[in-house]
Amino acid sequence: MSPAYRSLSSRIVSLWLGLLLLLIRVYAYEKISNETLNALPRPNDDFDIHNGALLSPILRTRVPGTPGSTAVLNHFADFFRTTLPEWTIEVQNSTAKTPTSKGKEVPFRNFIATRDPPWASAGDVERLTLVAHYDSKIEPKGFIGGIDSAAPCAMIMHAMRSIDAALAKKWSAMKEQGLDEPLEDAHGIQVIFLDGEEAFKEWSDTDSLYGARALATHWDDQFYPAMSEFKTPLSSISLFVLLDLLGSKSPTIQSYYETTHWAYQNLAALEKRFKSLKQFKSSSTDSWFIDSGKDGHKLTPMGGIQDDHLPFLAKGVEVLHLIDYAPFKGFPSVWHTIDDDGEHLDTETVEDWGMLVTAFAAEWMELEGYFDHPATIKGRSDQDSAEAEAIRLNKKTEL
Ligand SMILES: *[C@@H]1O[C@H](CO)[C@@H](O)[C@H](O)[C@H]1NC(C)=O
Ligand SMILES: *[C@@H]1O[C@H](CO)[C@@H](O)[C@H](O)[C@H]1NC(C)=O
Ligand SMILES: [Zn+2]
Repeated sequence: MSPAYRSLSSRIVSLWLGLLLLLIRVYAYEKISNETLNALPRPNDDFDIHNGALLSPILRTRVPGTPGSTAVLNHFADFFRTTLPEWTIEVQNSTAKTPTSKGKEVPFRNFIATRDPPWASAGDVERLTLVAHYDSKIEPKGFIGGIDSAAPCAMIMHAMRSIDAALAKKWSAMKEQGLDEPLEDAHGIQVIFLDGEEAFKEWSDTDSLYGARALATHWDDQFYPAMSEFKTPLSSISLFVLLDLLGSKSPTIQSYYETTHWAYQNLAALEKRFKSLKQFKSSSTDSWFIDSGKDGHKLTPMGGIQDDHLPFLAKGVEVLHLIDYAPFKGFPSVWHTIDDDGEHLDTETVEDWGMLVTAFAAEWMELEGYFDHPATIKGRSDQDSAEAEAIRLNKKTEL
């Protein structure tokens, strides 16, 4: 039937279908079970500040354009190449003069890793995007930036490693069931480690966010083929989750945006569940998410914090900003001091964040049922289940 002959009613039907799809697209989010929460992989020693495989290589100075920066960039690339080989990695380069570069161009290198459903073309995938900056501040001399943002980078690495197999399993199950047809948008996931967040001299619009500004501009100008679902890599970001200044004990996280408050509330719900399942190691009893009880229309966050999300937010990207900032108290006490190093990280809190980001990504990607753990293996005997339960309980008492 050619469009000219479509009846009004069929148009209304397709309008409704369109609306429905829109709703599905916005609210695609599925809680994971207690069993899965209990069984999610833990970072174990990988967050050890001295020799942990994920975190320790980042705990060094990494000022843009220096060998430390290159070493950390290589650490990310090695991690994805060896541990997550199905991911596509790229480095987005730009240069800029800085107030301290004496007229020279400083290179900024953003690290981007992406995992899309194998059947989907790049322009048809919407992506959950997890972001942290990896550069360190040029002064004070020797500044490491444990919370700012070495630990957030490691949390994201752990989370991606923890969900990768489940994601692969889900996609192959979808393919087997013929659900790889483009009925709805394909869902992918993406990591961005940004360079040049810090100011070299004094924070200003031009002396800060070097990497974020370059990437937002680049992605806004990069068009997918004409018939694609999404126009640009920017418009295909379903949620931009920015982690910054995380890794101190008892953080305070405000909710900054009405349109992403529901995602914030899902994180808060996960925190609560982890705590009541005794799966959180840090002992704080108060919720980190102080706005979780608030109505999304009535958010009054304090701070107006300038961070890597701004160039993306300005171009219409949905942002969830996870930053430890307490009204009247400000940032964690080590912030931008020489004390923001590995030793001042609260390792238990870093680990809890790693678990929280993992669980959030698992719910966002709707991975319930795709994690390998005893409780979900079908056809097991009761004895096996009892065993699984015993293993589970044992694991809990080990905490
Ligand atoms: C960025 O620069 C590196 C070399 O430093 C190069 O290997 C890489 O291909 C460049 N990225 C792009 C997208 O051109
Ligand atoms: C999951 O754990 C929470 C917190 O301990 C508990 O309130 C809830 O009842 C549990 N749900 C199921 C289905 O066991
Ligand atoms: Zn900083």
